[in-house]
Amino acid sequence: MHVVWDITVILQTYIICTSSAQPISSKLDEGWWAYKDVVQESFVPVPSFWGLVNSAWNLCTIGKRQSPINIETSHMIFDPYLTPLRLNTAGRKMGGTMYNTGKHVSLRPDKAHLVNISGGPLGYSYRLEEIRLHFGSEDAQGSEHVLNGQGFPGEVQLIHYNQDLYANYSEAVKSPHGIAVVSIFIKLSENSNTFLNRMLNRDTITRINYKHDAFLLMGLNIADLYPDTTRYITYEGSITIPPCYETSTWILINKPVYVTQMQVCVSV
Ligand SMILES: *[C@@H]1O[C@H](CO)[C@@H](O)[C@H](O)[C@H]1NC(C)=O
Ligand SMILES: *[C@@H]1O[C@H](CO)[C@@H](O)[C@H](O)[C@H]1NC(C)=O
Repeated sequence: MHVVWDITVILQTYIICTSSAQPISSKLDEGWWAYKDVVQESFVPVPSFWGLVNSAWNLCTIGKRQSPINIETSHMIFDPYLTPLRLNTAGRKMGGTMYNTGKHVSLRPDKAHLVNISGGPLGYSYRLEEIRLHFGSEDAQGSEHVLNGQGFPGEVQLIHYNQDLYANYSEAVKSPHGIAVVSIFIKLSENSNTFLNRMLNRDTITRINYKHDAFLLMGLNIADLYPDTTRYITYEGSITIPPCYETSTWILINKPVYVTQMQVCVSV
């Protein structure tokens, strides 16, 4: 448990250090934001302030389609014409690089193993760009999305860009129909999802203790990450980091995946 705590502190300290050492004016770069008010004395803008500290991030504050949201299941509409989502891996395993971004644990697939999704609410084919894990220090506060007011210990976000219309992620993220994010809630259990276990086992996670650490993982089967269901909730929203572009179709899978308590702690 001591090791676990050290990592938590290190990640948070990095956020504070990079933002408190410089004057305000030079802080207004893309890296300067945070999810939580980690230390009272240190002014790192949290989501409700993102739009106020940088005018290029206005959408974060005044946007009308901002994610994440609280999903009220009683307000949902069943659409009988929505087809299941199609995952296309061409039957191949993939490799990718795990990063500690200082804010998330992230996996970027290498360019040799392309994974596409299409179908469902998507009118185009979207290529997987990044898998981002969100965790909280408390069990019910790790997920970004909330279901009927209830949070989850974590949330996996598979971030894809529209490869039919755009050359790359940077172009797509600011453009219409640019992004599709598949979101899967994470719950705690005795057993761990096979894919997440590759990302979060002790051997992997100790190699990315520090911000900007990276580690290569091979032989991953992305299909293992998806729960066994074809049901999902979908809505049009935004990316959840500044500048909060409202270009994202969200697909929230109707079943969670599981990790062990230890894995959540280690990766916060
Ligand atoms: C995804 O789409 C691209 C472009 O259409 C294609 O080159 C690639 O083979 C596809 N990937 C898979 C895994 O089918
Ligand atoms: C993305 O594509 C655009 C348009 O083709 C190009 O100008 C830009 O340099 C590309 N960005 C990256 C990061 O590859």
